[in-house]
Amino acid sequence: MATTPTSTDHDGSRVAERAELRWALLVIGIVALLVGMMVYMSLHWATMPPSRVETIDPTTLHLAGEFVEDNLGTAAEPDGSVTVRVVGNQYSFTPQCLLVPTDTPVKFRGTSADVVHGFNIAKTNVNVMLVPGYIATFKTKFKEPADLVMPCHEFCGVGHAAMWAHVKVIDKAEFFKQAINGRRLSCVK
Ligand code: CUA
Repeated sequence: MATTPTSTDHDGSRVAERAELRWALLVIGIVALLVGMMVYMSLHWATMPPSRVETIDPTTLHLAGEFVEDNLGTAAEPDGSVTVRVVGNQYSFTPQCLLVPTDTPVKFRGTSADVVHGFNIAKTNVNVMLVPGYIATFKTKFKEPADLVMPCHEFCGVGHAAMWAHVKVIDKAEFFKQAINGRRLSCVK
């Protein structure tokens, strides 16, 4: 004998269908909100994906290679940009004061000599982790002269809260006058 759906079955399936649709719309709404947040953050704050992977031996940073003390600080490049090299260790940055020009492409190259540190320049989009064994890179530009703070923002031990440095943004012409002999610049006094 063929079964025909009773009117109660029919109502029941309609109610279930409506509930499913409501939940589906809610989920679509949440996904749309999250994607919207990602788009907003990436456009408004110029959030960048992690840089490509470059490795380095953290135990010999001070002995040879790119991150020896003489090579830290800001270097003027032949193409008119600058490269800033910085090392984080418990509990300070070297150099303690970074000097950068306005209106110039700036590339940061940083690493850590011991544990994970944070490299974050307040009021800018510069925000990366300094991980021992890896070179972190970040490209940016500074519009106006400024004195900025650069706190370590990854917990790195008992001295974490005291670990911070300064960034001084100075006029482009003034910077390149100082950079003329090719030495590494910083604002450490
Ligand atoms: Cu270094 Cu926190």
